[in-house]
Amino acid sequence: MAYRNLEISNRGAVRTITVNRPDKLNALNRDTLNELTLAFAQAAQDDAVRVVVLTGTGEKAFVAGADIADMNGYTPVQAQGFSRTGQRLMSSIERLGKPVIARIQGFALGGGMELAMACHLRVASEKAKFGQPEINLGLIPGFGGTQRLLRLAGRGAALELCLTGAPINAQRAYELGIVTRVVAPEALDDAVNALADQLAAAAPLAAAGILDAVLQGGETSIDQGLEFETQGFALAFSTEDMREGTTAFLEKRKAEFKGR
Ligand code: COA
Repeated sequence: MAYRNLEISNRGAVRTITVNRPDKLNALNRDTLNELTLAFAQAAQDDAVRVVVLTGTGEKAFVAGADIADMNGYTPVQAQGFSRTGQRLMSSIERLGKPVIARIQGFALGGGMELAMACHLRVASEKAKFGQPEINLGLIPGFGGTQRLLRLAGRGAALELCLTGAPINAQRAYELGIVTRVVAPEALDDAVNALADQLAAAAPLAAAGILDAVLQGGETSIDQGLEFETQGFALAFSTEDMREGTTAFLEKRKAEFKGR
């Protein structure tokens, strides 16, 4: 399938999805949201893909937000549809069942920050900038920003970023727990590739179980979360990978996981 606003590439079991609208700083218009939805559905279904890296074309921007030119003419009903389309995409990324790494080299603003927050891990260049500037447009975040930022960084940070609309640098985003790693711009690709390769070599069903338990656990009581973890733990004992992993340890060799 050919995409107009995305580039897709594969390196071993790592699929990279690149938002490719550099003249608009990779802003998310409706077509791009639809293409991302399709691209992530394909990545979910393809057993050869174990990890997804999401990024944007160019040095300047990961994604500079939802497309303001698109939104400018929306009726409230169209805006509702746009918000729901964006939110469904973000939820589908979060629930992909495979690790998704955001590679953030520049601006991750508005919908771009929301997109990054829907990924499981965020690796940022020291030059990256984060923010929820919707308030400056008379808007509020519409792709899950108020909810995911609250869960990721707490109420104080969520309110400060959303109410001021002011951007923060990568180091501040790291201090707030919004990004998981910050590296020099020239080290970004190596850092992302090394992390992606490490995750691609891990047992895929165990990775899926961890993603499920952590994501569900964030939304439930401790007792429900613990029960969820026990069920995931028990399920792992039905996999060939679990036998392989424990046997390889005992035989002092490297495990080879097959996702079965
Ligand atoms: N939606 C639509 N177009 C966007 C965009 C967005 N979110 N962000 C950038 N663009 C476009 C600009 O309109 C410009 O297009 P043009 O060349 O056809 O005029 C192009 O991308 C380059 O952006 P420009 O503003 O000229 O770059 P800059 O270096 O001066 O500023 C930013 C960079 C990121 C500070 C600035 O583009 C910006 O504030 N963008 C909007 C961020 C935002 O509010 N996002 C949340 C939206 S909900």
